[in-house]
Amino acid sequence: MEVVENQVTPATVRSPAAAEPGLSDHLRRRIATEFKTRWEDEWQRKFVTHGVAPGPNAVRLDGNDYLSVTGHPEIVQAQLDALRCNREFVVQSGVFQLDGSPTSRFEAALASYVGKEGALLCQSGYTANLGLIQVVADPQTPVYVDSLAHMSLWEGVRASGATGHAFRHNDPAHLDRTIARNGGGGLVIVDSVYSTTGALCPLEAVVEVAEKHGCMILVDESHSLGTHGPQGRGLCAELGLSHRVHFITASLAKAFAGRAGFFTMPDELRPYLMCHSFPSIFSSCLLPHEIAGLAATLGVVQRSDEARRRLREVTARLRGTFGELGYPIQHGSEQIIALEAGPEVDTLALRDAIEQREVFGAVFCAPATSRNRSMVRLTLNAALTDAELAHVEGVARELAPVVKPWNWPIARRLKS
Ligand SMILES: Cc1ncc(COP(=O)(O)O)c(C=O)c1O
Repeated sequence: MEVVENQVTPATVRSPAAAEPGLSDHLRRRIATEFKTRWEDEWQRKFVTHGVAPGPNAVRLDGNDYLSVTGHPEIVQAQLDALRCNREFVVQSGVFQLDGSPTSRFEAALASYVGKEGALLCQSGYTANLGLIQVVADPQTPVYVDSLAHMSLWEGVRASGATGHAFRHNDPAHLDRTIARNGGGGLVIVDSVYSTTGALCPLEAVVEVAEKHGCMILVDESHSLGTHGPQGRGLCAELGLSHRVHFITASLAKAFAGRAGFFTMPDELRPYLMCHSFPSIFSSCLLPHEIAGLAATLGVVQRSDEARRRLREVTARLRGTFGELGYPIQHGSEQIIALEAGPEVDTLALRDAIEQREVFGAVFCAPATSRNRSMVRLTLNAALTDAELAHVEGVARELAPVVKPWNWPIARRLKS
């Protein structure tokens, strides 16, 4: 039979329903027990994170491109140039990248940017956390994790086989007691800026506690890289702590607006890590145009002092207004604002109300938050205009007497 390119012959077309074998009874029972009520009754069979599509006048507070670098001509040009001249590139696992390759040069640049000896580029912030912790912890390593630390950090602990001990969010005294109770030593894990609340880690105090007990410390700088510190070098750099912290990790999908992540490590760890970190070994590397784009982004981010200043201004203004209107947001201080309505039905009502008024945040619910602490998360960026800020403030003002944020469970918790 003659095969015509791009033509779908009847033999290749099958109804998807007919093609699917049945799920096991066990899996069906699990879904019914764990998810049916949520999906059918509470969410009305509509995926909870999907609201309406934003229109052209929408104010988008649902992305993490804090410095608004997306589409920057230097970044786009670097990607295009790399796409044009890398036709021979071999896609393979990152462990095959030779010293002196664009990847290893970018890793060196990232490491020096955050003030560390070496870095390993990863496919995402998630795999960076997973791949690092999986190697540096083991079943004999107690790991102390802030209770609001990102899920990828917890998954790293799980992959390592270590026991994770949660300590109270942003509470160095509780960290101290938790370490003492569990035999000292080990690894302390915190985020620099917490992704659900915008709270800043009390990093100096955390480092002191970790040092007192001889623990290593890992800081996930996903939400401070690019936005905090001189030239956006991060919170550790801002506080002069880079040399006291063992590992810095970050997603490059926030202020770098790309698809990657990295972690730092001392040179002495590199060979061991390259032979043991599963995401680097068993998953393929980034592509040349991604590396080129990210390397160009690093330059743009370093030069973005004005955007960082504007981001701080925008953050102070909106946090001020939301606070005055009675929204309980005082547990955070940075460019992420959590409107924590609590139960999912209240969060969905809030999401619908703000979307109708052309403001778009992101719904966060379990497993990203605990079950009754769902929220609409607003993330701010440097490109927001004064008119857009005024619009957001107007919506917050109009909705306050409707959604009564002072009655949200978090408001009561913050008062007590
Ligand atoms: C603190 C933190 N760490 C890690 C990640 C994972 O990053 P990525 O999206 O690049 O996998 C995120 C993103 O949600 C995050 O907020």
